[in-house]
Amino acid sequence: MKDILQELESRRAVARAGGGEKRVAAQHYKGKLTARERIELLLDEGSFEEFDMFVQHRCTDFGMEETKTPGDGVVTGWGTVNGRMVYVFAQDFTVLGGSVSETHGAKICKIMDMAIQNGAPVIGINDSGGARIQEGVSSLAAYGEVFQRNILASGVVPQISLIMGPCAGGAVYSPAMTDFIFMVKDSSYMFVTGPDVVKTVTNEHVTAEELGGASTHTRKSSVADGAFENDVEALAETRRLIDFLPLNNREKAPVRPFFDDPARVEMSLDTLVPDNPNQPYDMKELILKIADEGDFFEIQKDFAANIITGFIRLEGQSVGVVANQPMVLAGCLDIDASRKAARFVRFCDAFEIPILTLVDVPGFLPGVTQEYGGVIKHGAKLLFAYGEATVPKVTVLTRKTYGGAYVVMSSKHLRGDFNYAWPTAEVAVMGAKGAVEILYRSELADREKIAARVKDYEDRFANPFVAAEKGFIDEVIMPHSTRRRVARAFASLRTKKLANPWKKHDNIPL
Ligand code: HXC
Repeated sequence: MKDILQELESRRAVARAGGGEKRVAAQHYKGKLTARERIELLLDEGSFEEFDMFVQHRCTDFGMEETKTPGDGVVTGWGTVNGRMVYVFAQDFTVLGGSVSETHGAKICKIMDMAIQNGAPVIGINDSGGARIQEGVSSLAAYGEVFQRNILASGVVPQISLIMGPCAGGAVYSPAMTDFIFMVKDSSYMFVTGPDVVKTVTNEHVTAEELGGASTHTRKSSVADGAFENDVEALAETRRLIDFLPLNNREKAPVRPFFDDPARVEMSLDTLVPDNPNQPYDMKELILKIADEGDFFEIQKDFAANIITGFIRLEGQSVGVVANQPMVLAGCLDIDASRKAARFVRFCDAFEIPILTLVDVPGFLPGVTQEYGGVIKHGAKLLFAYGEATVPKVTVLTRKTYGGAYVVMSSKHLRGDFNYAWPTAEVAVMGAKGAVEILYRSELADREKIAARVKDYEDRFANPFVAAEKGFIDEVIMPHSTRRRVARAFASLRTKKLANPWKKHDNIPL
């Protein structure tokens, strides 16, 4: 019996050693942790339960029968994050470059199936040279099986991808179908075809970092939702994000203890909006002053900064925030902002996270580039996402909201539950100057007359009361009491029930 126990221990030791000391040292030299070190930091201490530690590949081509490592280049299992269950896989770059074989893929599929069945998030740590070249089509099939599960799990359990090394070829498509992608600066990259292929096909010369590094994907392509300095920070922030999310689409997000008075008054908000309508202010200040303990987890911070998305808590409960940012492009909606916010709204709705929308928007960004880029369809994504969302929706207008953007930004007409406005808010088809130039074109030469027309328009429309008189604004509130009003609004909506007409699925403009 003792021998058998010892054998188990020695088999475990072989599996835990992965690709061996030399390759582990190389991994560390690149500033990367190993798969097991990453899982240890991600999960609560001692909570990891491993599956399939002894699985080996079945390939016999290219002398592969001599190159077997128990676990086959991926560590899989489940554990807890602050006591809540998650499933996890971490590719082990020290074993055949973390490449995906038939068995490696099957291990990932096993935990994904369990996650869907048992209702817990999947966190994938990607660090892989892609399809295992020696296995040919079997490895492609393995990817296909993973993709299929990503699709089935979408909207059922949260899926989070951490990119902590190379992620190339079709391998990028599994993360692309998950809810959030986070990268590590300088040690991770994602692309469909690498720099060499790009050079051959298009004669463009780029480095791997330029083509698919964290900066590219968080600032240009928006493929990634965030980037962190190193593995440790990425794993710690993933734990923080998990705390905001429900385990699955049938459960509510966790309620955390809070130490912040829900009725906290912020007198400084009464002067947040400058007197000069053309002067910007930082909408993040409002978010931080509304949030419990000023805690805000931002999503896609470096992309389309004219709109802000992320999670806060109110009375300990998770709330998704979408807010126009007057500091960037005057807070205009454009293609990028619409896509970014639409996806965020849909995530919140899929996982029953209420949505707070803070509005200061002059409209959609005009221009040939926007029209040629399909701003109509991209803008419609956000409109569609808000309109189909059945979660509690509370909206606060701080300054202006004009035209189509007024309707889009969680207006009453898209089933907004509470639509509040500050006294500084204006709801109109457009700004006074633009309106007068259209309505009184024949008088444009007479500056005095035009100035009087502008003043008249402003007096009539540059306030929230016209909309409030029609019931499109439920209440005009004092800026300093925004946290209290919003927290009470969400509290009153905790039992909200709203369903859309039966359908197989909708046809959101893609
Ligand atoms: C088998 C692989 C491998 C792979 C790396 N290795 N990629 N083994 N299949 N795809 C092995 C190497 O042979 C090496 O083994 C070890 O992993 C480490 O690799 P290095 O090249 O030494 O590391 P590094 O210099 O850091 O370069 C990493 C890399 C490079 C950039 C990822 O290895 C690389 O370009 N690999 C091939 C990438 C690729 O073309 N993959 C297929 C993509 S197509 P030893 O024994 O020396 O340690 C694809 C299709 C999916 O994925 C489609 C799904 C539908």
